[in-house]
Amino acid sequence: MTNIIVACPQCKYQMSVQGNPGERIELICPKCKIYGFFQFPEESSTAPTEDVIVVKNLTKYYGKIKGIEDLTFSVRKGEIFGFLGPNGAGKTTTIRTLLGYLHPTNGEAYILGKNIAHNIVNIKRDVGYIPGELNLYGHLTGRQFLDYFGSLRNKQLPLLTDLLQIFDVPLDRKIKGYSRGMKQKLGIIQAFMDDPDIVIMDEPTSGLDPLLQQKFYDFLRGQKKKGKTIFFSSHVLSEVDKICDRIGIIRNGKLVALEDVETLKEKMGKLFRVKIKERPEKFTGPKNMKVRDGLIEFVTSGDIDYWVKQLSHYTILDLEIHAFSLEDIFIHYYEGQA
Ligand SMILES: Nc1ncnc2c1ncn2[C@@H]1O[C@H](COP(=O)(O)OP(=O)(O)OP(=O)(O)O)[C@@H](O)[C@H]1O
Ligand SMILES: [Mg+2]
Repeated sequence: MTNIIVACPQCKYQMSVQGNPGERIELICPKCKIYGFFQFPEESSTAPTEDVIVVKNLTKYYGKIKGIEDLTFSVRKGEIFGFLGPNGAGKTTTIRTLLGYLHPTNGEAYILGKNIAHNIVNIKRDVGYIPGELNLYGHLTGRQFLDYFGSLRNKQLPLLTDLLQIFDVPLDRKIKGYSRGMKQKLGIIQAFMDDPDIVIMDEPTSGLDPLLQQKFYDFLRGQKKKGKTIFFSSHVLSEVDKICDRIGIIRNGKLVALEDVETLKEKMGKLFRVKIKERPEKFTGPKNMKVRDGLIEFVTSGDIDYWVKQLSHYTILDLEIHAFSLEDIFIHYYEGQA
């Protein structure tokens, strides 16, 4: 029997809960009366997860302008981690700092256990990434570009042939004549061609058409199956929903959320919209309940069964249960209501 302190998801009231590993118990918050379940964690026999990217208090100021401040998070081996945030939030700054293009003002970061401050040459050899602005290499043909980065990798390029089949690019044309999507494809080929254990990318799907995006997601899923770790920034919420295991959300240079995609959805709960024949005020809902145009509205992150049963004591004229989409969740965080 273990004792765990649990915070109510709605009012944050802390309560002590007793149970056995793996046990699921019913709970009612003594303060706000919300009903829900708590699942005690299983006793794990698996090895602890390995963090392959560790970011500690990472801070970057451009003179007086804040890029990122006090960023702390880790990326685990074998996961696809999505890095999200509104324009200007600090995603590119984080990625460029991790890859040694920018020097942090403060804090530190480790990739595969190596401190980026002292090992950036080794890190850049071992980590796949799309090198900043491909226009810098505009005078090279696609083939010359891949040869050049292949030589920096100092390794075999086992995935090159497969990648060229998926992301077909005109290898003998100069990069300055490439379309945006072609440059993006070339960047992706380059990032993955030597089959690195970690790949870090800034908005890799921007400029790719929907068909290529799908091919890219399939490719990433295959990489994940092989135990590779992918860290990428994105504005495309549907892709994050489809392929990411965890996400970090950054706003105004600071991390505002770090969650499993599934947990994030569960945490946001469901919106009930109900019309009852009786006066709406007669129904006692959770604390956040509002009555709008005669409709009862409330959000619950607890078990919906409880509220459906409570409502069954009334004559229901209309009932709508709306699950928040990932888009709703992101807007909630982007707008600063978190
Ligand atoms: N070279 C620079 N000089 C001065 N300020 C900069 C520079 N680069 C970025 N910034 C500032 O740092 C902050 C974070 O910018 P960053 O480019 O990291 O955001 P982002 O999350 O990548 O945004 P987007 O989604 O638009 O790509 C912004 O306020 C931006 O204006
Ligand atoms: Mg950016």
